[in-house]
Amino acid sequence: MEQRNILVTGGAGFIGANFVHYWLAQYPQDKVIVLDALTYAGNKANLDIVANNSNMTFVHGNICDTALIESLIDTHQLNTIVHFAAESHVDRSITEPDAFIETNILGTYSLLKAAKKKWIDEPKAQGKPTPEHRFHHVSTDEVYGTLNATDPAFTEETAYAPNSPYSASKAASDHLVRAYHHTYGLEVTTSNCSNNYGYISLPRKTDPVNCYQHP
Ligand SMILES: NC(=O)c1ccc[n+]([C@@H]2O[C@H](COP(=O)([O-])OP(=O)(O)OC[C@H]3O[C@@H](n4cnc5c(N)ncnc54)[C@H](O)[C@@H]3O)[C@@H](O)[C@H]2O)c1
Repeated sequence: MEQRNILVTGGAGFIGANFVHYWLAQYPQDKVIVLDALTYAGNKANLDIVANNSNMTFVHGNICDTALIESLIDTHQLNTIVHFAAESHVDRSITEPDAFIETNILGTYSLLKAAKKKWIDEPKAQGKPTPEHRFHHVSTDEVYGTLNATDPAFTEETAYAPNSPYSASKAASDHLVRAYHHTYGLEVTTSNCSNNYGYISLPRKTDPVNCYQHP
């Protein structure tokens, strides 16, 4: 793609904000639209470094709002979605799973629905070819279950075995993303990374002492 107009969901969170910083520095010709609901995990200040970059637009909104996603795709001529937004704190998913089902499953479904409508259905109805597009879904290695110290590492061939409401909700979203490729031809990729830590990560994710503290 010559120029990417990217919707970055969850771009005010830990990994999403690092991605936005990286992308704008590496690809200054691209436009980045950050969509974030600013839950307890999101912090707009994570984007301060790029706040004055004219190629970055921040939108305060929810990925479950399909009409908003559709209008963002139209307004900004989006051809790429990089989907970080999630409820991501495993311990919280055990005490308060509702938000995990809503954001991680229904939110991902909402994005897929909007992308399919704008990139596949509408061009087809107008007799136009499907435009070049990409839906990248950021998932977790936790969909593969839990490793003991002597177990071999997970691979992409490992069977899914989620063990928490968090990982189950991410596994469900992975399956929806896969199905949208196989059923409708949406161009998708999914990454299943393990735990990240670093610049602007929340202490509760890296410091075991803080694991059970609500912010
Ligand atoms: N942090 C890790 O170590 C790790 C490891 C593997 C996978 N992941 C995955 O990477 C992604 C990003 O993780 P993170 O650690 O940066 O998460 P985070 O909790 O720091 O950030 C999540 C962001 O999503 C936003 N958000 C939540 N619900 C939303 C909604 N309904 N609509 C719009 N925005 C919403 C929050 O406001 C926040 O800014 C997640 O999908 C997570 O499952 C993270």
